[in-house]
Amino acid sequence: MGARKTAKGNTQAPFPLDRAFTFAESGPVLLIATRRKGKNNLMTVSCHASMGFEPTIGICLGPWNYSYEALTETGECVVAIPHAGLLEAVVDIGNCSGRDVDKFKTFGLTARPGEVVKAPLVGECLFNLECRIVNTQLVDEHNFFVLRGLKAWRNSDPADTRTFHAIGDGTFVIDGETVDLRHRMTKWQHCI
Ligand SMILES: Cc1cc2nc3c(=O)[nH]c(=O)nc-3n(C[C@H](O)[C@H](O)[C@H](O)COP(=O)(O)O)c2cc1C
Repeated sequence: MGARKTAKGNTQAPFPLDRAFTFAESGPVLLIATRRKGKNNLMTVSCHASMGFEPTIGICLGPWNYSYEALTETGECVVAIPHAGLLEAVVDIGNCSGRDVDKFKTFGLTARPGEVVKAPLVGECLFNLECRIVNTQLVDEHNFFVLRGLKAWRNSDPADTRTFHAIGDGTFVIDGETVDLRHRMTKWQHCI
């Protein structure tokens, strides 16, 4: 079926369903740090969802990844938010495996000890969240792990403050202008 035209600015054309996840994929790209058998590892994750304010985060992590074994065996990880200065490294991290390389060493990143889990914080990242798995009900069907954040860290001197977002097929958007609408948040001021 072709494009359906009604009025200017109001046209919808069919889009491949297997690429449709990219519509809502644009949360910040994450690094997931794990530690298993004394070995630290990192992977890149763009499919994730904020699921609650505790905080609870859902990540989609497939069994083909080496990190999957570490996450399922240990039940814990660190969710790290990289800044735009790390974009190329983060893409490369997602294109090789901890089976073959020491990613912290290869990409010049610093593994720092956390307080709650054995997985490392990523020193250069903007934020780190030490997490444990709290729900695996959707893992078999959707590779979807629900994580509860237990301890949060913020980089007090980051090299860059912008995050970046995957928008499909190897393309990314880097944060731009910040719009401060706090004066309009009369109902949800401290919440969202
Ligand atoms: C931008 C980007 C986003 C990615 N998002 C995901 C994702 O959401 N889920 C997933 O399972 N793999 C994702 N990957 C692929 C993994 O990061 C990749 O398989 C990684 O090499 C796994 O590393 P590991 O074998 O050391 O665990 C992504 C890769 C890139 C480059």
